[in-house]
Amino acid sequence: MGNDNISIKTPEDIAKMRVAGRLAAEVLEMVTEHVEAGISTGELDRICHDYIVNTQKAIPAPLNYKGFPKSVCTSVNHVICHGIPDDSKVLKKGDILNIDVTVIKDGYHGDTSKMFIIGPPKPHVERLIKVTQECMYKGIEQALPGNHIGDIGHVIQQHAESNHYSVVREYCGHGIGLVFHEDPQILHYGRPGTGTEIREGMTFTVEPMINAGKRHNKLLADGWTVVTKDRKLSAQWEHTILVTRDGPEVLTKRSDEALPF
Ligand code: MF3
Ligand code: CO
Ligand code: CO
Repeated sequence: MGNDNISIKTPEDIAKMRVAGRLAAEVLEMVTEHVEAGISTGELDRICHDYIVNTQKAIPAPLNYKGFPKSVCTSVNHVICHGIPDDSKVLKKGDILNIDVTVIKDGYHGDTSKMFIIGPPKPHVERLIKVTQECMYKGIEQALPGNHIGDIGHVIQQHAESNHYSVVREYCGHGIGLVFHEDPQILHYGRPGTGTEIREGMTFTVEPMINAGKRHNKLLADGWTVVTKDRKLSAQWEHTILVTRDGPEVLTKRSDEALPF
């Protein structure tokens, strides 16, 4: 788990990471209009699968990854992450949903997720989702050469906890490239100046999982679905980023995002 296993991407790698990242973002853009009350997460999975395979000529990375049975993760309400799409899980007014998309194009991975609210949002729900996205952006802002991985975790933890939310510790961001999950681990909590030094040419995800209640979680018997122990809501956003000399470049940026990076 040392520094030594962290791949620094070449210009050729980076060109392909940009393509993979754009495709992953485009899946989320495409699926957005389908997310509404009455549709099942199983149907959303099929829509994403068919678009990735038939239109993008890419590969949905989750499918058969360590035995995961579907092409995207769909995490509803108190599900923190790795929810399995299911035809019997029909979205209803008031639900919140994370869709997590990872595509492989030309061997390279792009990994990104966003939150959806079904129907008119309640203020406390909208706030959790907004603060979680801010956590991700604040973390991304720290992805500068010379900074440390702990700087990312620190600002995320600070923002979440100052809003009386908690940070999930057992799941984290990750290096990404030819391999889906590679070094380094990007913890979403930590202390400034600690951990691996961030260097130009690294590509990794920032994907904070923020709970409205306590941080504790459990894995369901399906071996994948992670839920909050207190059954309170959890939110997550994810981007894949490249560290450049000038700062972070978001490889999975969507057209609905106005970002300085
Ligand atoms: N996309 C998830 C991540 O952000 C990983 C999903 S693995 C799966 O790292 F097998 F559950 F799909
Ligand atoms: Co990821
Ligand atoms: Co992901």
